[in-house]
Amino acid sequence: MIINQHIPIMSNEILSFIDKEKKLSILDCTFGGGGHSMKFLETGHSVTAIDMDDYSQSIANKIKQDFPNFSFYKINFKDIDTLQIKLKKFSFIILDLGYSSNQLEDNEIGLSFKINSNLNMNYLGGNITAYKIINKYSKDDLERVFHTYGEINQSTKLAKYIIEQRSIREIKTNFELIEILKNSGVNFRSKKIHFATQAFQALRIEANKELENLLTFLKKVHNLMENKAFLAVISFHSLEDRIVKNYFKSNKIKKNNSFQNSKNWGFENLTKKPITPSNSEINKNKRSRSAKLRVGRFIN
Ligand SMILES: C[S@@+](CC[C@H](N)C(=O)[O-])C[C@H]1O[C@@H](n2cnc3c(N)ncnc32)[C@H](O)[C@@H]1O
Repeated sequence: MIINQHIPIMSNEILSFIDKEKKLSILDCTFGGGGHSMKFLETGHSVTAIDMDDYSQSIANKIKQDFPNFSFYKINFKDIDTLQIKLKKFSFIILDLGYSSNQLEDNEIGLSFKINSNLNMNYLGGNITAYKIINKYSKDDLERVFHTYGEINQSTKLAKYIIEQRSIREIKTNFELIEILKNSGVNFRSKKIHFATQAFQALRIEANKELENLLTFLKKVHNLMENKAFLAVISFHSLEDRIVKNYFKSNKIKKNNSFQNSKNWGFENLTKKPITPSNSEINKNKRSRSAKLRVGRFIN
């Protein structure tokens, strides 16, 4: 039986950009549990969805039985141009970045610091795991990962401590790593979040190449957009949000109708400030609290 634990985020806010009278052709680049895709399908739109996740594929196979205007492809969105749909253009493209609640609960993936999994954290089927980063990376690389992706101030101290500990014995599980983080003497940033949050975020971003995937995708996405199409991106950490913000900024349409990028296309920024979930949504779904939605309208 397929159990879907993922609750879609800011669905109403996303649907508010769509004219109810129009039937759109939508590309959902992060299908996950299919929450957003289902909202689009139920309101009569056609959806092409992608995700690298096997469980997402099973959910998609079920949806296909009820909606003939739905298709699914298992690929990394950074490779979107290699897909057979490449000549097709869409009127709405959505990315809801990161991992789904189904993946968070998956013992094999091991994203949670509440479950004692083997160190992995790779939810996109790539070959970098948290085990490899923690046990094999050089001091400089460990420092880079913790500093750049975890924004940990004492990343040098943490890298040195991990190298010391792994020379005593391999670090194999999430709980072993948490113990090491706890004993490292590093001052983790916030009292409000679990002390392992920044380190786990750093490892997850590195293992899945999250930022590279997003940057590569953004270099290609304009080829897939119809004139006046929408690009909606939900991000969950400041590093991703900054990339999306800068993308819309560097490709914006200027007052004299020329484009910032000197090309023949650009974006009207529809969210000068990112949209965030309402308090009632946050109360119902804690995972939504760090979400930020930015939307641009493609003009060419
Ligand atoms: C936050 S969930 C999306 C949830 C979905 N919008 C819903 O409402 O059910 C993110 C999904 O994107 C997928 N994903 C993240 N990065 C990806 C990438 N580079 N290529 C393909 N899928 C990716 C993950 O596997 C995960 O299933």
